[in-house]
Amino acid sequence: MTPTDVQRYYQESDDELAQRYVKDEAFLSPSYCAAALAHRYTLYPFIREFVDFQAWRGRRVLEIGCGQGADLSQFAAAGAHTFGCDLTPKHCEISRRFTEVVTGGTVPVVQANATRLPYASESFDLVYSFGVLLLVEDLDGAIAEIHRVLKPGGRVITMFYNRQSLHYYVKTLYYYGIVCDLEQLLGPRRLVDWFTDGFGYPRTYHQTPETLRQAFARFAIDDLIVRNLTPDQLPLIPFDDYPPEFWSWMASRLGFYLMLKGRK
Ligand SMILES: C[S@@+](CC[C@H](N)C(=O)[O-])C[C@H]1O[C@@H](n2cnc3c(N)ncnc32)[C@H](O)[C@@H]1O
Repeated sequence: MTPTDVQRYYQESDDELAQRYVKDEAFLSPSYCAAALAHRYTLYPFIREFVDFQAWRGRRVLEIGCGQGADLSQFAAAGAHTFGCDLTPKHCEISRRFTEVVTGGTVPVVQANATRLPYASESFDLVYSFGVLLLVEDLDGAIAEIHRVLKPGGRVITMFYNRQSLHYYVKTLYYYGIVCDLEQLLGPRRLVDWFTDGFGYPRTYHQTPETLRQAFARFAIDDLIVRNLTPDQLPLIPFDDYPPEFWSWMASRLGFYLMLKGRK
Protein backbone atom coordinates (compact mmCIF):
# COMPACT_ATOMS: atom_id res chain seq x y z
CA MET A 1 0.00 0.00 0.00
CA THR A 2 1.72 3.18 -1.21
CA PRO A 3 0.77 6.76 -0.29
CA THR A 4 -0.79 6.97 -3.77
CA ASP A 5 -3.11 4.03 -2.97
CA VAL A 6 -4.13 5.66 0.31
CA GLN A 7 -4.75 8.99 -1.41
CA ARG A 8 -6.82 7.30 -4.15
CA TYR A 9 -8.96 5.51 -1.56
CA TYR A 10 -9.79 8.71 0.31
CA GLN A 11 -10.17 10.79 -2.84
CA GLU A 12 -12.77 8.34 -4.22
CA SER A 13 -14.58 7.32 -1.01
CA ASP A 14 -17.24 9.35 0.78
CA ASP A 15 -17.52 6.71 3.50
CA GLU A 16 -15.00 8.56 5.62
CA LEU A 17 -16.98 11.78 5.83
CA ALA A 18 -19.58 12.77 8.41
CA GLN A 19 -22.15 12.52 5.60
CA ARG A 20 -22.57 8.86 6.49
CA TYR A 21 -24.21 9.74 9.80
CA VAL A 22 -25.31 13.35 9.22
CA LYS A 23 -27.79 12.63 6.45
CA ASP A 24 -30.42 15.35 6.86
CA GLU A 25 -28.25 18.45 6.57
CA ALA A 26 -26.77 20.05 3.44
CA PHE A 27 -23.08 19.12 3.12
CA LEU A 28 -20.87 21.67 4.91
CA SER A 29 -23.81 23.86 5.97
CA PRO A 30 -23.51 25.28 9.52
CA SER A 31 -26.02 22.70 10.80
CA TYR A 32 -24.09 19.89 9.08
CA CYS A 33 -20.82 20.96 10.71
CA ALA A 34 -22.50 21.35 14.12
CA ALA A 35 -24.03 17.87 13.83
CA ALA A 36 -20.71 16.37 12.71
CA LEU A 37 -18.95 17.89 15.74
CA ALA A 38 -21.70 16.81 18.13
CA HIS A 39 -21.54 13.26 16.79
CA ARG A 40 -17.74 13.10 17.03
CA TYR A 41 -17.39 14.38 20.57
CA THR A 42 -20.37 12.40 21.89
CA LEU A 43 -18.89 9.20 20.47
CA TYR A 44 -15.32 10.11 21.44
CA PRO A 45 -15.54 12.39 24.52
CA PHE A 46 -11.96 11.47 25.39
CA ILE A 47 -10.64 13.50 22.43
CA ARG A 48 -11.54 16.81 24.05
CA GLU A 49 -10.36 15.60 27.46
CA PHE A 50 -7.02 14.36 26.15
CA VAL A 51 -6.23 17.14 23.68
CA ASP A 52 -7.65 20.11 25.65
CA PHE A 53 -8.09 22.39 22.62
CA GLN A 54 -8.34 25.53 24.82
CA ALA A 55 -4.82 24.93 26.16
CA TRP A 56 -3.38 25.71 22.70
CA ARG A 57 -4.70 29.26 22.44
CA GLY A 58 -2.01 31.54 20.98
CA ARG A 59 0.28 28.58 20.20
CA ARG A 60 1.34 27.25 16.79
CA VAL A 61 -0.45 23.98 16.06
CA LEU A 62 -0.11 21.68 13.05
CA GLU A 63 -2.62 18.90 12.38
CA ILE A 64 -1.39 16.13 10.06
CA GLY A 65 -4.19 14.33 8.20
CA CYS A 66 -6.93 16.77 9.18
CA GLY A 67 -9.51 14.77 7.18
CA GLN A 68 -12.74 16.73 7.21
CA GLY A 69 -11.47 19.42 9.60
CA ALA A 70 -13.37 18.62 12.81
CA ASP A 71 -10.48 18.78 15.29
CA LEU A 72 -8.72 21.39 13.15
CA SER A 73 -11.75 23.66 13.60
CA GLN A 74 -11.57 23.21 17.39
CA PHE A 75 -7.92 24.34 17.56
CA ALA A 76 -8.79 27.35 15.42
CA ALA A 77 -11.91 28.14 17.45
CA ALA A 78 -9.81 27.98 20.63
CA GLY A 79 -7.51 30.67 19.23
CA ALA A 80 -4.49 28.57 18.23
CA HIS A 81 -2.41 29.60 15.18
CA THR A 82 -3.64 26.58 13.29
CA PHE A 83 -2.16 24.83 10.24
CA GLY A 84 -3.39 21.68 8.56
CA CYS A 85 -2.14 19.22 5.98
CA ASP A 86 -3.55 16.08 4.41
CA LEU A 87 -2.44 13.68 1.70
CA THR A 88 -5.84 13.83 -0.03
CA PRO A 89 -6.68 17.00 -2.01
CA LYS A 90 -10.44 16.52 -1.46
CA HIS A 91 -9.92 16.41 2.32
CA CYS A 92 -7.76 19.56 2.22
CA GLU A 93 -10.61 21.42 0.54
CA ILE A 94 -13.27 20.01 2.90
CA SER A 95 -11.12 20.88 5.95
CA ARG A 96 -10.71 24.47 4.75
CA ARG A 97 -14.44 24.87 4.21
CA PHE A 98 -15.44 23.06 7.44
CA THR A 99 -13.12 25.27 9.51
CA GLU A 100 -14.37 28.41 7.81
CA VAL A 101 -17.99 27.49 8.54
CA VAL A 102 -17.24 26.71 12.21
CA THR A 103 -14.93 29.64 12.99
CA GLY A 104 -15.67 32.26 10.33
CA GLY A 105 -11.92 32.46 9.67
CA THR A 106 -9.50 30.70 7.35
CA VAL A 107 -6.93 28.05 8.20
CA PRO A 108 -4.08 27.23 5.79
CA VAL A 109 -4.43 23.59 4.77
CA VAL A 110 -1.95 22.16 2.27
CA GLN A 111 -1.67 18.84 0.50
CA ALA A 112 1.31 16.99 1.96
CA ASN A 113 2.57 13.59 3.04
CA ALA A 114 3.31 13.10 6.75
CA THR A 115 6.75 11.82 5.76
CA ARG A 116 7.66 15.09 4.01
CA LEU A 117 6.18 18.07 5.80
CA PRO A 118 6.42 21.41 3.97
CA TYR A 119 7.15 23.41 7.15
CA ALA A 120 10.27 24.93 8.70
CA SER A 121 12.15 23.06 11.40
CA GLU A 122 11.30 23.95 15.02
CA SER A 123 8.22 25.93 14.02
CA PHE A 124 5.33 24.35 16.01
CA ASP A 125 4.33 24.07 19.67
CA LEU A 126 2.08 21.09 18.96
CA VAL A 127 1.84 18.51 16.18
CA TYR A 128 -1.47 16.67 16.37
CA SER A 129 -2.54 13.67 14.31
CA PHE A 130 -5.59 11.48 14.94
CA GLY A 131 -6.08 8.19 13.10
CA VAL A 132 -3.52 9.00 10.41
CA LEU A 133 -0.09 7.65 11.32
CA LEU A 134 -1.69 4.20 11.58
CA LEU A 135 -1.98 4.31 7.78
CA VAL A 136 1.63 5.31 7.16
CA GLU A 137 4.01 2.53 6.21
CA ASP A 138 7.08 4.68 6.86
CA LEU A 139 6.12 5.51 10.45
CA ASP A 140 9.72 6.24 11.41
CA GLY A 141 9.93 8.79 8.58
CA ALA A 142 6.74 10.51 9.76
CA ILE A 143 7.90 10.60 13.39
CA ALA A 144 11.26 12.08 12.29
CA GLU A 145 9.35 14.84 10.47
CA ILE A 146 7.16 15.55 13.51
CA HIS A 147 10.30 15.81 15.61
CA ARG A 148 11.92 18.13 13.08
CA VAL A 149 9.05 20.63 12.87
CA LEU A 150 8.47 20.79 16.64
CA LYS A 151 10.14 23.48 18.70
CA PRO A 152 12.34 22.21 21.55
CA GLY A 153 9.90 21.23 24.30
CA GLY A 154 7.06 21.06 21.74
CA ARG A 155 4.34 18.41 22.11
CA VAL A 156 3.02 15.64 19.94
CA ILE A 157 -0.47 14.19 20.46
CA THR A 158 -1.50 11.28 18.32
CA MET A 159 -3.87 8.30 18.09
CA PHE A 160 -3.21 4.76 16.82
CA TYR A 161 -5.19 1.51 16.72
CA ASN A 162 -4.52 -0.79 19.65
CA ARG A 163 -3.58 -4.36 18.79
CA GLN A 164 -4.20 -5.43 22.41
CA SER A 165 -7.91 -4.68 22.04
CA LEU A 166 -11.23 -6.51 22.03
CA HIS A 167 -11.82 -4.91 18.62
CA TYR A 168 -8.76 -6.64 17.17
CA TYR A 169 -9.01 -10.04 18.87
CA VAL A 170 -12.75 -10.53 19.44
CA LYS A 171 -14.38 -8.66 16.54
CA THR A 172 -11.79 -8.97 13.80
CA LEU A 173 -9.82 -12.17 14.34
CA TYR A 174 -12.38 -14.28 16.26
CA TYR A 175 -15.80 -13.16 15.02
CA TYR A 176 -15.13 -12.22 11.38
CA GLY A 177 -12.07 -14.43 10.91
CA ILE A 178 -13.22 -17.65 12.62
CA VAL A 179 -16.99 -17.51 13.30
CA CYS A 180 -17.84 -15.99 9.90
CA ASP A 181 -14.90 -17.84 8.33
CA LEU A 182 -13.82 -14.79 6.34
CA GLU A 183 -10.10 -15.26 6.78
CA GLN A 184 -10.29 -18.08 4.21
CA LEU A 185 -11.92 -15.77 1.70
CA LEU A 186 -10.02 -12.54 2.31
CA GLY A 187 -6.67 -13.69 3.68
CA PRO A 188 -5.27 -12.48 7.01
CA ARG A 189 -4.11 -9.07 5.82
CA ARG A 190 -7.38 -7.99 4.20
CA LEU A 191 -9.37 -9.40 7.10
CA VAL A 192 -7.58 -6.99 9.43
CA ASP A 193 -7.57 -4.03 7.02
CA TRP A 194 -11.24 -4.32 6.06
CA PHE A 195 -12.66 -5.13 9.49
CA THR A 196 -10.67 -2.41 11.16
CA ASP A 197 -12.54 0.34 9.35
CA GLY A 198 -14.59 -0.84 6.37
CA PHE A 199 -14.59 -2.74 3.10
CA GLY A 200 -11.81 -1.71 0.76
CA TYR A 201 -10.04 0.20 3.53
CA PRO A 202 -6.34 0.84 2.98
CA ARG A 203 -3.80 -0.94 5.10
CA THR A 204 -3.81 -0.22 8.82
CA TYR A 205 -0.92 -0.79 11.21
CA HIS A 206 -1.87 -1.73 14.77
CA GLN A 207 0.37 -0.84 17.70
CA THR A 208 0.79 -1.79 21.33
CA PRO A 209 1.94 0.53 24.15
CA GLU A 210 5.38 -1.09 23.83
CA THR A 211 5.73 -0.64 20.05
CA LEU A 212 4.60 2.99 20.38
CA ARG A 213 7.11 3.71 23.13
CA GLN A 214 9.82 2.32 20.87
CA ALA A 215 8.61 4.26 17.82
CA PHE A 216 8.52 7.54 19.82
CA ALA A 217 11.77 6.83 21.68
CA ARG A 218 13.21 10.23 20.75
CA PHE A 219 10.34 11.89 22.68
CA ALA A 220 9.66 11.95 26.41
CA ILE A 221 6.28 10.19 26.73
CA ASP A 222 3.99 12.16 29.07
CA ASP A 223 0.87 10.03 28.69
CA LEU A 224 -0.27 6.90 26.89
CA ILE A 225 -3.92 5.97 27.35
CA VAL A 226 -6.31 3.33 25.99
CA ARG A 227 -9.90 4.28 25.07
CA ASN A 228 -12.92 3.47 22.89
CA LEU A 229 -15.08 0.41 23.35
CA THR A 230 -18.52 0.32 21.76
CA PRO A 231 -21.14 -2.48 21.43
CA ASP A 232 -20.47 -2.95 17.69
CA GLN A 233 -16.91 -3.97 18.55
CA LEU A 234 -18.21 -6.99 20.48
CA PRO A 235 -20.52 -9.12 18.36
CA LEU A 236 -22.12 -12.03 20.29
CA ILE A 237 -21.52 -10.30 23.63
CA PRO A 238 -24.63 -8.98 25.50
CA PHE A 239 -23.26 -5.48 26.07
CA ASP A 240 -26.35 -4.26 27.94
CA ASP A 241 -26.08 -7.04 30.53
CA TYR A 242 -23.11 -5.30 32.11
CA PRO A 243 -23.02 -1.86 33.77
CA PRO A 244 -21.49 1.11 31.89
CA GLU A 245 -18.78 1.35 34.60
CA PHE A 246 -17.59 -2.12 33.64
CA TRP A 247 -17.30 -1.18 29.94
CA SER A 248 -15.56 2.06 30.75
CA TRP A 249 -13.02 0.11 32.85
CA MET A 250 -12.59 -2.37 29.97
CA ALA A 251 -12.21 0.53 27.49
CA SER A 252 -9.28 1.90 29.47
CA ARG A 253 -7.54 -1.48 29.21
CA LEU A 254 -8.69 -3.19 26.01
CA GLY A 255 -10.16 -0.31 23.98
CA PHE A 256 -9.53 0.25 20.28
CA TYR A 257 -7.57 3.51 20.51
CA LEU A 258 -4.11 4.16 21.88
CA MET A 259 -3.50 7.87 22.47
CA LEU A 260 -0.04 9.24 23.11
CA LYS A 261 1.25 12.57 24.38
CA GLY A 262 4.97 13.19 23.97
CA ARG A 263 7.46 16.02 24.37
CA LYS A 264 10.49 16.87 22.22
C1 LIG B 1 -9.07 8.14 9.10
S1 LIG B 1 -8.87 9.70 8.36
C2 LIG B 1 -8.69 10.70 9.82
C3 LIG B 1 -9.04 12.13 9.58
C4 LIG B 1 -9.07 13.02 10.81
N1 LIG B 1 -7.78 13.12 11.45
C5 LIG B 1 -10.11 12.54 11.80
O1 LIG B 1 -9.77 12.16 12.92
O2 LIG B 1 -11.29 12.53 11.44
C6 LIG B 1 -7.22 9.64 7.75
C7 LIG B 1 -6.77 10.91 7.02
O3 LIG B 1 -5.36 10.85 6.89
C8 LIG B 1 -4.98 11.25 5.60
N2 LIG B 1 -3.69 10.60 5.32
C9 LIG B 1 -3.46 9.29 5.09
N3 LIG B 1 -2.15 9.05 4.89
C10 LIG B 1 -1.53 10.27 5.04
C11 LIG B 1 -0.17 10.70 4.94
N4 LIG B 1 0.81 9.85 4.67
N5 LIG B 1 0.11 12.01 5.13
C12 LIG B 1 -0.89 12.90 5.41
N6 LIG B 1 -2.19 12.55 5.50
C13 LIG B 1 -2.51 11.26 5.33
C14 LIG B 1 -6.14 10.79 4.73
O4 LIG B 1 -6.18 11.51 3.51
C15 LIG B 1 -7.33 11.06 5.63
O5 LIG B 1 -7.81 12.38 5.46
